[in-house]
Amino acid sequence: MQFSELNVKPQILKSIEDMEYTELTDIQKRIIPLALDYNDLIGQAPTGTGKTFAFAIPILNMVNENSFDVQATIIAPTRELAVQITNEINKLAKYLNKLKAIAIYGGELIDKQITGLRKRPQIIVATPGRLIDHLNRKTINLSSVKMVVLDEADEMLNMGFLDDINEILSRMNPNHQTMLFSATFSQEIENIANTFMHEPQKIKVNQGSLTLKQISQKYIYCREADKIEIASRIIELNDYKLVMIFCNTKKNVDEVTSQLLTRGFLAEALHGDMKQMQRDRVMARFREGTINVLVASDVAARGLDIDDVEIVFNFDLPTDDEYYIHRIGRTGRAAKSGVAISFVTRGEQRRIKEIEKYAKTSIEKGSFPSLDKVIKIRTIRLLERAKEVADSSNLKEVSYDENRFLSIIDKQLNKFEDLDKDVLIKGLLSIIINADSRNSEIEEIKEEIDNRRARRSNNGVRMFISVGRKDDIKVYTITDMLVKNTSLSNVEINAVTICDSFSFFEVPREFVHEVLSLSNEIRYKGRRLTIEEAKEDRRRYGKDMPTVISGKKALARTSKRDNKTSRLNNKNMKY
Ligand code: CDP
Ligand code: MG
Repeated sequence: MQFSELNVKPQILKSIEDMEYTELTDIQKRIIPLALDYNDLIGQAPTGTGKTFAFAIPILNMVNENSFDVQATIIAPTRELAVQITNEINKLAKYLNKLKAIAIYGGELIDKQITGLRKRPQIIVATPGRLIDHLNRKTINLSSVKMVVLDEADEMLNMGFLDDINEILSRMNPNHQTMLFSATFSQEIENIANTFMHEPQKIKVNQGSLTLKQISQKYIYCREADKIEIASRIIELNDYKLVMIFCNTKKNVDEVTSQLLTRGFLAEALHGDMKQMQRDRVMARFREGTINVLVASDVAARGLDIDDVEIVFNFDLPTDDEYYIHRIGRTGRAAKSGVAISFVTRGEQRRIKEIEKYAKTSIEKGSFPSLDKVIKIRTIRLLERAKEVADSSNLKEVSYDENRFLSIIDKQLNKFEDLDKDVLIKGLLSIIINADSRNSEIEEIKEEIDNRRARRSNNGVRMFISVGRKDDIKVYTITDMLVKNTSLSNVEINAVTICDSFSFFEVPREFVHEVLSLSNEIRYKGRRLTIEEAKEDRRRYGKDMPTVISGKKALARTSKRDNKTSRLNNKNMKY
């Protein structure tokens, strides 16, 4: 079915023509005609299949431009989504000159929004909490609303907006049409439908799988510490320009962002702790391609439609199966192809299988590019670029007076007259390639991360564990063990120090109890391990504490300063 066959205002069709879309998507084919016929609808369809137009076209067709009453309200879970929907509506309304849609969301000054509201928009796209604020202040009047849309309804419920939604809907004139979109159906959704909708029709478009077939899904089995290196290699090798990386915690989002920046990528973070203005700016910069990598928490997983996101990384596996679908659904939109890569660390293989089953899809095991391959590509690109610059009319025709560098280069090159130019080029290339901060073996990267771990934070509690280098313990053995057996996440474990027969690590105070309960419970190679609070003097070790100190030295140092409490005398431990 084509848009031109729809019985809607010609201005709407004209704007769609401008976007060069002709065919309706499956969900649009089924929703739009029913919506134009005033039916209440519940829609469920995979990500990126055009649900926004499915409700926006009927809304625009219904709204009377000449009236200044609010005639349609769309409620969405996040500010970003509200802004995006508003933009989509305004694009579709390009030729409906008097029509205005405005986004209303928390985090933005309410006064600014009141100014926007004075312009009398006919369509309001809002997050639930802020909409209630405005209703209470009487700065928004919904009595003339004819159409209400709940977008990503299940997510709004997940976020605890049930009461708000009930309140908003119950304060509206019941004579309106309602459309509800949700990725899943729960009892709560049914309740909303039963209370506020009139004989809603359920429209479900399913392709069997919950994920899109044009997204190639792979998982890579690796160590926590290698994730950054692997992601960097994949991005560099494929020269990806728009990349999204999802992490589970805000702390991880910040950390991954800063590591990518160190490696020369244009990356920015997006998470719920950031001010709204910052969030808007980051989104805008990503949409326009000023930054290439958006590192985000799940605030960005839902509904966001950014053109041409080429690859999505699950840097951390989502803890909720459903989020897998939403996260990877940021790519492969509007029938384009996309890639989704999930990092799986030890102990997580079962999780990825569960996700695969839930999403009714297949996630293949993938491998990551070798360093050789990356260096090869890097060298080829560098040479191509050098040739481009050398060939450019700029460099050939510019006189030496105009380009001072050229004369310096010439002069210096003359000094190397007995040196073969080929050899010189090779020398230069290896300097450039090796100087690149990304050019590190996974082993080296591991070292770096181990060093970071060795740095102390101020609010952590230092713990002691009775295994060490002699037992073949690595930093990640300890972190993996803690992550698997407690509610700690990787980033919360700091300052891991491996000594010969024992090790130290630091965790936030609130986890100490949980960690202590593992003592004598947990086994390593059949041996019960002891875990206690470390008693060494933290101030004196300070940041000078070596990453690795030998058992003997540690024994000497610890007992010298603190005989009485030294746990090293504890006879349960064998050193
Ligand atoms: O809400 P949902 O995840 O289903 O997708 P969306 O945010 O509406 O994104 C759909 C994308 O496909 C947008 O970029 C649209 O411009 C584009 N598109 C469409 O919606 N309908 C078509 N018939 C063709 C393209
Ligand atoms: Mg959507």
